[in-house]
Amino acid sequence: MERSLSMELVRVTEAAALQSARWVGKGLKDDADDAATTAMRTVFDTIPMRGTVVIGEGEMDEAPMLYIGEELGTGEGPDIDIAVDPLEGTSIVANGGWNAMTVLAVADKGNLLHAPDMYMHKIAVGPDCNGVVDLDASVRENIEAVAKAKNKDVSEVTVTILKRERNQQIIDEIREVGSRIKLIDNGDVAAAVNTCFDWTGVDMMLGSGGAPEGVIAAVAMKCLGGDFQARLFPHSDEERERCKHMGIDPDKKLVLDDLVTGDDAIFAATAVTEGELMRGVRFKGQHAETSSIVMRAKSGTLRFINGTHRLDKKPNMVLDN
Ligand code: FBP
Repeated sequence: MERSLSMELVRVTEAAALQSARWVGKGLKDDADDAATTAMRTVFDTIPMRGTVVIGEGEMDEAPMLYIGEELGTGEGPDIDIAVDPLEGTSIVANGGWNAMTVLAVADKGNLLHAPDMYMHKIAVGPDCNGVVDLDASVRENIEAVAKAKNKDVSEVTVTILKRERNQQIIDEIREVGSRIKLIDNGDVAAAVNTCFDWTGVDMMLGSGGAPEGVIAAVAMKCLGGDFQARLFPHSDEERERCKHMGIDPDKKLVLDDLVTGDDAIFAATAVTEGELMRGVRFKGQHAETSSIVMRAKSGTLRFINGTHRLDKKPNMVLDN
């Protein structure tokens, strides 16, 4: 992949964030998502690449834009696979909560797992705990391993987990061990990424969330040198069949290299609302400010990018020439 692609991809997440941020707190999650999707689609098509959506807004018959199989880009340039979540945290935006982001990940063709739209069990830790946790170990074993690697007491370890009935047993086990818990309503991509930055105060992410989000988070974790392991969590025979049909063994523990093959992938995200890692979009008159993160696995380079945008000059986030 071209090095310059990273910067082009930030323009995509910035545009999506600027558009969806207009919907913060309005209680209209679908409108927020549509705004992000339309902006992402528009800017993608200005990038010199031959991209194919492998994780997107749904199948062609259910999503008008950014559907699986859709081709993006100018049609010239590298052949790449694209995973998008135009708005990760639609309800967060609707409620004006924390950690909504526009996110995408790209890799060379064939290198991103085509994850079915179902749940996935996940564990994520930062670089200092890479190699010490195991999705198949008990909650206690994983917490103790993280505490040891970080030279902390288990009571000082903080675990983020989606507040869902299906995660209740893990929540109970964490409480039994005596660690701190950060229960989140939505947004487990940000939760995984946050484990890689000490200042977020989060040491590990556990529990099940969306599988497509898992692949996107895995790209970020590969870029950051963290660890991410997962297993699909089909809820019916039909879902199990769907996994097999897509060539994924539903019982297999998926390690980072299963989710993102090869050593080159790019992750980009722009905050829509405030988060531990980045500031949400700010508007003032014809100006808007964005905070983004972009990183590449091959080089290990990570950039935080603050953008100031002149909305009068780029009403659709794209200059006409
Ligand atoms: P949105 O679809 O509203 O963007 O929600 C995102 C999310 O919270 C993800 O972060 C998470 O992986 C998934 O939804 C969890 O799904 P569910 O809400 O069905 O438990």
